[in-house]
Amino acid sequence: MTAGGGDTRRMKNILVTGGAGFIGSSMVRHLLEQESAAHVYNLDALTYAGSLENLRDLPDGARHTFIEGDINDRQRVEELLRSQAIDTIVHLAAETHVDRSIHGPAAFINTNIVGTFALLEAARAVWLGSGHRPDGAYRFHHVSTDEVYGSLEPDEPAFHEERAYQPNSPYAASKAASDHLVRAYAHTYGLPVTLSNCSNNYGPRQYPEKLIPLMILNAMAGEALPVYGDGKQVRDWLYVDDHCRAVHAVLERGQPGETYNIGGGAQRTNLELVNELCRILDELLPESPHRPHARLVRFVPDRPGHDRRYAMDIRKIQQHLEWEPSESLASGLRKTVQWYLANSAWIEAIRAEPEYRTWMERNYARRGEKP
Ligand code: NAD
Ligand code: DAU
Repeated sequence: MTAGGGDTRRMKNILVTGGAGFIGSSMVRHLLEQESAAHVYNLDALTYAGSLENLRDLPDGARHTFIEGDINDRQRVEELLRSQAIDTIVHLAAETHVDRSIHGPAAFINTNIVGTFALLEAARAVWLGSGHRPDGAYRFHHVSTDEVYGSLEPDEPAFHEERAYQPNSPYAASKAASDHLVRAYAHTYGLPVTLSNCSNNYGPRQYPEKLIPLMILNAMAGEALPVYGDGKQVRDWLYVDDHCRAVHAVLERGQPGETYNIGGGAQRTNLELVNELCRILDELLPESPHRPHARLVRFVPDRPGHDRRYAMDIRKIQQHLEWEPSESLASGLRKTVQWYLANSAWIEAIRAEPEYRTWMERNYARRGEKP
C-alpha cells in the first residue's frame, strides 16, 4: 500500500543528494516536471563533479532549493529532514569515476560508504525516532550501479537482481558496501528503502572524464581518443533521462525493500561506441579539419582490473513497474553530441578549472603519455 492509499506514492518534500552532478541534475529536472505538487531540496557538496551550471533553467525554480553541503554532515541532514518535513530521499551523491578510485580510493570510502551511513542514520533518527513506524509515507531510495555485480563473460546472461555481488574496483566495492548498508537498515530497523542498480549512463552535462564526453571533447579539439586495452570491453548504455524515469517509477510504485536493475539493452564494445561517436561528429562537423575523427583513436595501456563486460537483465522493472528505455542508442548519442557542440561555455568552464587539467595529466601520466 502507498502513502496516498492508492497504487502510486505521492511525494511532498523530496531531498535529492548529488543534484548538481550529471544524473542528479537531470533527476531534479524530472521531479520538478513530474511531481507538480512537490518541493525538491538539493543537497550537494559541489565537488569537482558538481556545478550550479547544471541547474540553470530549471522547469520551476520556485519549487527547488539548493543547499551546498556534505552528506557526511549528519546533524545538518537531520535538521533538514525535520525542518522541511522531507518524506522522500533520492540518494545520488557519490564519487563516481572508476579511474579516480584506482588513483585515490579514500574519497570513495568517505562519501560512498561513510556518507551513505550518515544519511541512513539521519533518516533513521527522524523517520523512525521514538519507536515510530513509518506508515508508507517515507522512502529512502539508493541509486547504485551494475558494477557491484562484477564482470560478465562474453556469453553469460545479463545481471539479474539475485546475482551475488563481486565488485572489482574500489569504486564498485564502495557502492556495494553502501548497498549492503541500505539493505541492512531496512532489515534491522524497518527503514523504508528501495534500491536501483543501473548500467552506464550518457547524455548532457556528464563530466568529461567519462568515456563519451571525453571522446566528444577530444575529437572536437583534434586530440587523441584514448581507448583502453583492446577496446573490446562491453558496456550497456542508457540515456540519462530514461534512468531518471526509472528511478521515478521506483519512487512511485516500487515495493519497499526491493532492488530493481535498470539498463538500456544497448551493449557495445568501447571501440564500436567511439567509432559511432566519430561518425556522428564527421556528419555534424563537415568543415572540421579533424575528419575522419576515427583516425584520432589511440590504443593506450589498460585500466588496472578493468571489468570486461556489463549487461543488465531488466525484466523485473519492466514487468513490475512497466518501465522501458525510450531513447535508442543512435538517437541518444546524436542528441548528446549535439548538446556538447551547442554548449561550449559549459565545456570551457570545466576545462579552465585547474582540477580538470591536474586529473588529465595524472591519468595520462599513469599510461606514460602526454595529454
Ligand atoms: P557525478 O560524479 O556526475 O555527480 C556526483 C555529485 O555528487 C556531484 O554533484 C558532487 O558534487 C556530489 N557529491 C559528491 N560527494 C558529495 C558529498 N560528500 N556530499 C554531497 N554531495 C556530494 O555522478 P553521476 O554520474 O551523476 O552519478 C550519480 C549517482 O548515480 C552515483 O551514486 C553513481 O554511483 C550512480 N550511478 C551512475 C552511473 C553513471 O553511468 N554515471 C550509473 C549507475 C549509477
Ligand atoms: O556501469 C555503471 C558505471 O558506469 C557507473 O557506476 C560509474 O559511475 C560510471 O563512471 C561508469 O563507469 P565506467 O568505468 O564503465 O565508465 P567510464 O566512462 O569511465 O568508462 C567506460 C568504458 O570506457 C570503460 O570500459 C573504460 C573505457 N574508457 C574510459 C575512458 C575514460 C576508455 O577506453 N578510455 C577512456 O579514456
